Amino acid sequence: MKLKIKKFSKFLLDFTNVRFTEFIYRKNVILDIGCGEGEFLIKLANLYPKKQFLGVEIKYGRIIKCLKKSNLNNIKNIKFAICDANLFVEKILLNETLNKVFINNPDPWPKDKHEKNRILKVPFLNNLHKKLKRRGSLYIKTDSKKYLNYIIKNIKKTKFEIDTSESKFDYSLESTKFQKLYEKDKKRIYSIKFIKK
Ligand SMILES: C[S@@+](CC[C@H](N)C(=O)[O-])C[C@H]1O[C@@H](n2cnc3c(N)ncnc32)[C@H](O)[C@@H]1O
Repeated sequence: MKLKIKKFSKFLLDFTNVRFTEFIYRKNVILDIGCGEGEFLIKLANLYPKKQFLGVEIKYGRIIKCLKKSNLNNIKNIKFAICDANLFVEKILLNETLNKVFINNPDPWPKDKHEKNRILKVPFLNNLHKKLKRRGSLYIKTDSKKYLNYIIKNIKKTKFEIDTSESKFDYSLESTKFQKLYEKDKKRIYSIKFIKK
């Protein structure tokens, strides 16, 4: 393990430790997929100290920033995993353990030839559906209309339902780093919520 990460290992999800299973079994875990530098999740963890938060991110440098910020803010209810989210959701998470899942500004890979790189494909969404508990919700934000339509097309092939109720998205939720960049460029952010009935 690299030294930098060892220093903050209490914030890392240790797949080999029995406490990992305890953490996941709390059945109230809130997951941020592609959590970037963690500002969104850390803000939520601060706001809701009794809930358990988990971030998964594939880039080492970003995870280090998440760990440093959590340490600085003395957060007790957060863990991070450096992992490909596809693998993490399919192989690591247990069924019906997630309360909420956030996917904020996933890389849209706008060119058709890069469709294979998009994360929100049908098998991934089906796996997420399995890992969420009943009435659990999936929140997605994107600045790309094309990606939004792609997500909706794929969601229709799963058991998720689009939440059309008035409070379908809590707009008071903390903005993310990428969202702030898009807003600065006056880009529209599309927010959508799906539920597991
Ligand atoms: C556009 S950024 C958004 C970051 C953050 N959610 C935000 O809104 O500020 C997309 C993030 O997803 C991460 N990512 C992309 N593919 C991933 C994968 N397969 N597994 C985990 N993270 C991934 C990237 O490294 C990046 O940090």
